[in-house]
Amino acid sequence: MKRTILITGGAGFIGSNLINLLASRYSSYRIVNFDALTYAGNLENLKAVENLPNYIFVKGDITNADEVDAVFAKYTIDSVIHLAAESHVDRSITNPLSFINTNIIGTVTLLNAARKFWNGDFNGKLFYHISTDEVYGSLGDEGLFVETTAYDPRSPYSASKASSDHLVRAYHHTYKLPVVISNCSNNYGPNQFPEKLIPLAISNIKNNRPIPVYGKGENVRDWLFVKDHAEAIDTIFHNGKIGHTYNIGGSNEWKNIDLIRLLCQIMDRKLGRENGDSEKLITFVSDRAGHDLRYAIDSSKLQNELGWAPSVSFNEGLEETVEWYLANTEWLDRILTGNYQNYYKEMYSNR
Ligand code: NAD
Ligand code: DAU
Repeated sequence: MKRTILITGGAGFIGSNLINLLASRYSSYRIVNFDALTYAGNLENLKAVENLPNYIFVKGDITNADEVDAVFAKYTIDSVIHLAAESHVDRSITNPLSFINTNIIGTVTLLNAARKFWNGDFNGKLFYHISTDEVYGSLGDEGLFVETTAYDPRSPYSASKASSDHLVRAYHHTYKLPVVISNCSNNYGPNQFPEKLIPLAISNIKNNRPIPVYGKGENVRDWLFVKDHAEAIDTIFHNGKIGHTYNIGGSNEWKNIDLIRLLCQIMDRKLGRENGDSEKLITFVSDRAGHDLRYAIDSSKLQNELGWAPSVSFNEGLEETVEWYLANTEWLDRILTGNYQNYYKEMYSNR
């Protein structure tokens, strides 16, 4: 095997899309998926690669130093792509401590293991940390986040991710650990847990349930198809400059309410409903606490220096996403009938 890559959080949404790409594209790389299988982790997402000889799954917790050390020792890890995290802003508002634990302590535990096992020999080694545009805070009507935008995280989730970014940079500066970081905008696509806006809306429209829109639906997000994010990670993993940060985004800004209306039209067509039927499900609910108004990414550094660009238009990506959720009703139903029911009641009952 040419490389052994530890991918953390590989059973989640972006991690599984990334592993599905890398394990099939690079048969000479050994991919070790290290995931605690929290509510967000689902091995069903990896059916396409589970029998490949270059793919290995290890159940483990990034906050547990013994488990992390064991996987480094057993598989002689030379690269890390670190995605494992608590990732949902609303959950961070109700339970910040689990975000501090996983996103900060977990990241430091991994950094310590990389330092210990690589032991100053950084030739051919890389610690690639996957982060978010939310570390930059919230934009007004104008402007874009660039790599040098000052950090201004405003939710427990984004504060925990910002902290992990700082620690990754600190390990580079202090111990010369070879690191690279990317900060991406909102992803959508297959395998996304239906707590996030797009899969939640698809699921509720399908089941004729209200579509909860926070506040007036005026908040803006910059949407990127998850397979384009996976391609960007592949590009940065192979060609990113050590110590650098790359912003990744779709240049695809949508107000939530406009996005939901578009999704309703697609769903009406796919479900054979009258045009306008699904829109009747739109329900304005109380706003998220501290709700960031607008995120928008300038990804020109990645585009100009490394040659990546998004390849999937929003219309194509949404069509593919809706089709995936409609074709994978068992995947969705298994989640909807589990503990997620309790979460949904708790989160939305008093909105
Ligand atoms: P996700 O919630 O779908 O998946 C997270 C995965 O991490 C799950 O498989 C879960 O089991 C695993 N995990 C959680 N805690 C763990 C622990 N202690 N030890 C080991 N594994 C653990 O998340 P996602 O949306 O795929 O996001 C992946 C990464 O990308 C995160 O770091 C997130 O901050 C970042 N990111 C996400 C987006 C987005 O739009 N979803 C955008 C930019 C950046
Ligand atoms: O920007 C990148 C980030 O995008 C990632 O780092 C996070 O992990 C990811 O969860 C996502 O964060 P958001 O908070 O932007 O995503 P979410 O899907 O939760 O919400 C998108 C927008 O929709 C946001 O403005 C809140 C709103 N919303 C969300 C939900 C769940 C609603 O109006 N109703 C809802 O029910």
